[in-house]
Amino acid sequence: MKAKITVAAEMKIGSIDRRMFGSFIEHLGRAVYGGIYEPGHPLADEDGFRSDVIKLINELDVPIVRYPGGNFVSGYDWLDGVGPVAERPKRLELAWGVTEPNTFGTNEFMRWCQKAKTAPMMAVNLGTKGPDEARALVEYCNHKSDSKWSDLRIKHGYKDPWDVKLWCLGNEMDGPWQMCSKTATEYGRVANEAAKMMKWVDSSIETVLCGSSSRYMNTFGEWEQKTLEIAYDNVDYVSLHQYYGNHSNDTPSFLAKSLDLDDFIYSVICVCDYVKAKKRTKKQINLSFDEWNVWYHSNGAPFERWSTAPDQLEDIYNFEDALVVACMLITLLRHADRVKVACLAQLVNVIAPIFTKTGCGSFRQTIFYPFREISKYARGVALNPIIDSPKYDCKEYTDVPYLESIVTYDEEKDEVVLFAVNRSMDEKMILDINLLGFEGYKPVFAESLEGFDIKAENTFDSEKVDMKHKELPAEEGKGFVAELFPLSFNVIRFKK
Ligand code: AHR
Repeated sequence: MKAKITVAAEMKIGSIDRRMFGSFIEHLGRAVYGGIYEPGHPLADEDGFRSDVIKLINELDVPIVRYPGGNFVSGYDWLDGVGPVAERPKRLELAWGVTEPNTFGTNEFMRWCQKAKTAPMMAVNLGTKGPDEARALVEYCNHKSDSKWSDLRIKHGYKDPWDVKLWCLGNEMDGPWQMCSKTATEYGRVANEAAKMMKWVDSSIETVLCGSSSRYMNTFGEWEQKTLEIAYDNVDYVSLHQYYGNHSNDTPSFLAKSLDLDDFIYSVICVCDYVKAKKRTKKQINLSFDEWNVWYHSNGAPFERWSTAPDQLEDIYNFEDALVVACMLITLLRHADRVKVACLAQLVNVIAPIFTKTGCGSFRQTIFYPFREISKYARGVALNPIIDSPKYDCKEYTDVPYLESIVTYDEEKDEVVLFAVNRSMDEKMILDINLLGFEGYKPVFAESLEGFDIKAENTFDSEKVDMKHKELPAEEGKGFVAELFPLSFNVIRFKK
């Protein structure tokens, strides 16, 4: 089959905020304990941080990590996780039915961020706690000294403030599974007061309002509208969460899920701008897509209630999941003008690109690769592509383009990069690439994820699902022609 993509240097969607390649560590399963933190592990450093895991995270180049939850945060007392470790209480953790030892808390996370070369994105508890505890945590983290909470941090051994810039106002507060879930009006008021006081403590921070926990909540749309109407002036972003699965083993529909994602993002932009119009304000609310991924393999897996760090949500990903993750990232890039923050949920062990065995090694899951390549090469601006592709119908969608693609331009490196997924199960795609306004640019590097069984997985012994080098696209007329393997994710870089 043939397809065509055309971009023009002047047709920019928007600049790509590096924070679009963020991730997430929750106190859940083995994300913290046995994931990033495992004192006594042969590869743990003096703080108990696993250096093999940090190495893999560096490979992904993750600029921000959201913490400490997730559902966990709605019952979390941050004071349990600071100060002398021996004095910290063990707690029944109601979100996930486990025992939280609290041996890892805010300061350990900040130290870990420094070592992992990433920045914290903190969430405050607006479930069982409220605005007062939230502003105290900002003071603890960000205020220099000479106040109750900043002095407590200093007493705990951390003289310099952590200077956390991005703060989530709770988590999924519309979900009945959330501790102290709320109506839109209840949440809007609490979030507004919390954000206001947090910004009074430190005016340099940005805040993220919880959007609906999914676009399939009955209150979706109305929730965003009502909460924004109340909290607009004190928030900077609204959050979106979305996970997909291939429950009915229908690969063509699964691969088309990014169409749903695109629609979701567009709908939330519309609600934000509706409230903006209603308020007659110049202030624009942007989007923080702070939980997204494939999640379904591990659902319902048994674990021992009230145990500590059991195996929870340990999805083992396959090749088709990696293609869906690539399509989701391409879709986020298509909204680079409004999606300024995004977090792959999560980072280690729990629905994650990195998988460890407690006490042993680690490996890169299949979804690691599209994330790594796009995080590494999608820099600068996203260009608005004109795509001409054959389409297919499947059980869940009609008119699904076989080609999912975006082109980015990095002025600093003077590099144009094309990312493309061929969704066809059996036909290769001959892709015409036209780069208008990039005269003299030639392909210098091509690679792809292709040729695996759709259910192929990586393991501790073999990371067989990996990128491979490809032949460079041929020059034809004023453009280039690339061959995209059936079911493939492709990266082609062009330089002058
Ligand atoms: O990422 C796993 C869970 O999914 C998070 O705790 C919650 O916010 C979402 O429902």
